[in-house]
Amino acid sequence: MKEPIIAPSILSADFYDIGSAVRYIEESGCPWLHLDIMDGHFVPPITFGHKMIADIRAKTRLFLDAHLMIEEPERHINAYIESGADAITFHSEACVHSHRLIQSILHAGIKAGISIVPSTPVSSIIPLLESVDLVLVMTVNPGYGGQKLIPFCLQKVEELRRIREQEGLNFLIAVDGGINVKLIPDLVIQQPDVLVIGSAFFSAQDKKQFVTNFLDAWISPIRNID
Ligand code: DX5
Ligand code: ZN
Repeated sequence: MKEPIIAPSILSADFYDIGSAVRYIEESGCPWLHLDIMDGHFVPPITFGHKMIADIRAKTRLFLDAHLMIEEPERHINAYIESGADAITFHSEACVHSHRLIQSILHAGIKAGISIVPSTPVSSIIPLLESVDLVLVMTVNPGYGGQKLIPFCLQKVEELRRIREQEGLNFLIAVDGGINVKLIPDLVIQQPDVLVIGSAFFSAQDKKQFVTNFLDAWISPIRNID
């Protein structure tokens, strides 16, 4: 059974002390750090922008996974490319010329990702799958941490895996929203490659232990069924 990449989202961290949040992620052994950029238009809240990524980039070697929940991401893409993010994912719903934007990100030597909200079907991004490095399946309606996972979204992971295999493609499949240890038996069936985890990670007293327990349960999921 392949171990997933866990990407803690600093959305659920204490914004007064982001340095500690980054260290918690480093010390937990997770290789990725997920950054939720929200503009108050595509989603209601506003979080932070490219300067936050650049400042974190200066202090860590973690893989920085930027998730742009912003309208017209093409208008801001240069700043995010220059921020030092390792991967930039934008929403298919927020951009008309998605293919062009993917090419701009890839041209800069950065991994490119496309994301879909729960109401967007996988079929709408099929033409893009051969170009992207990552597909981020939102398993909640984006905008807030701490929500409950919407079960039907998980079927998209299986659909994407099937297309990936049939077409011989290489993109990673990530899920984002409402992921916690109790859902492992459902998640294991779908086999996503990357799990974005916000509130469950940051509410754990011992983050390293949380990750160890999570990955142990992934290998023997049956133990976690209540
Ligand atoms: C939600 C964000 C998520 C969020 C996940 O719009 O994209 O990355 O931080 O948080 P949890 O794990 O609490 O759902
Ligand atoms: Zn996210």
